[in-house]
Amino acid sequence: MNINGIPRQSIWWNEAEEQVYLFDQRTLPYAIEEKPIRSHEEAATAIRDMWVRGAPLIGVTAAFGMYLASVEAQSEKDSVAYMKRAQATLLATRPTAVNLPWALQRLEPIWREQVIEAWPKALLEEALKIREEDIAQSKAMGEHGLALIKALYQESGRPVQIMTHCNAGWLATVDYGTATAPMYLAHEAGIPIHVWVSETRPRNQGFSITAFELDAAGIPHTMLVDNAAGLLLQQGKVDLVLVGSDRTTANGDVANKIGTYLKALAAHASGVPFYVALPSSSIDFTMASGQEIPIEERSAAEVKTIQGYTAAGRQTVALTPPNSPAVNYGFDITPAAYVTGLITERGVCPASAEGLATLFPEKYPADAR
Ligand code: MRU
Repeated sequence: MNINGIPRQSIWWNEAEEQVYLFDQRTLPYAIEEKPIRSHEEAATAIRDMWVRGAPLIGVTAAFGMYLASVEAQSEKDSVAYMKRAQATLLATRPTAVNLPWALQRLEPIWREQVIEAWPKALLEEALKIREEDIAQSKAMGEHGLALIKALYQESGRPVQIMTHCNAGWLATVDYGTATAPMYLAHEAGIPIHVWVSETRPRNQGFSITAFELDAAGIPHTMLVDNAAGLLLQQGKVDLVLVGSDRTTANGDVANKIGTYLKALAAHASGVPFYVALPSSSIDFTMASGQEIPIEERSAAEVKTIQGYTAAGRQTVALTPPNSPAVNYGFDITPAAYVTGLITERGVCPASAEGLATLFPEKYPADAR
């Protein structure tokens, strides 16, 4: 998608420099800095400290991290042990998004089974392939979600009102996004939409990233504080809630940014459809239900302070009594019962094992059903 009218992607390989680059998203919306990633430790730092975030992008960044580890491993005495340690370091960065273990597992046979000299080329090729697949999957989700938006527009004849949460946009993937992909395609197709962008405390990904993306794309949008979502849903001001997912389990339960569950409850109470867009790399077919999903707990400092910009640059401001404790859960679980449907690269299905099995039959063998 675009930054200042120039098409960009969130992570890329600079062929001339033989270097991985990504955007440091922490400075958005006031600045966006390109950062080279030179080692697997730097890739881990980028994920842990949220220079990059969003389930698919975390997976792609980790894949490039393992490529970098394989270059480093060439001069190690025990190269396999080095790769194991690098994998563990990357895996430990963030616990909830399943794209991280998914990408690491996908790369593992290369460094387990091939000769050491072959690792860098093979791992780079695979990381680039994961990156390309992510773009194609986002685009496919966009096409499937577009059909839903088109139907709503044909029904009402007025701009489709879509509410989203956190950032499930192109900056959370490689391009297009998960929840935003249908919005971008609808806008391109001339279907009028308006997006309600929820703040997403404590890190404010809605304001600082989603609003930034929509503004750059020229898509009409309005920001709201997280607590206003219920009122808007109740007042009939939302036709569709569309969010992403960090991990969806085999029964259709959805882990996504904290606050998603409250939106799903309010949407359910107001009879508003609640859809989740996610690539298959965000589906954990090995987990039976959302109760098993590890929920990331982050620093209380993110709750007790807020970051923003002044003329002096990026500032952190205290908000609370210094001694009052705070909790900071990064994600919540929306039970499948509150999810109208899942939008995947293979199509839209009910949020249930039966629904997912229609799109991913290879993951639900008939004898196990
Ligand atoms: O903590 P973050 O910013 O990584 O959380 C991101 C989200 O919750 C997104 O909605 C999610 O990754 C799914 S969409 C790409």
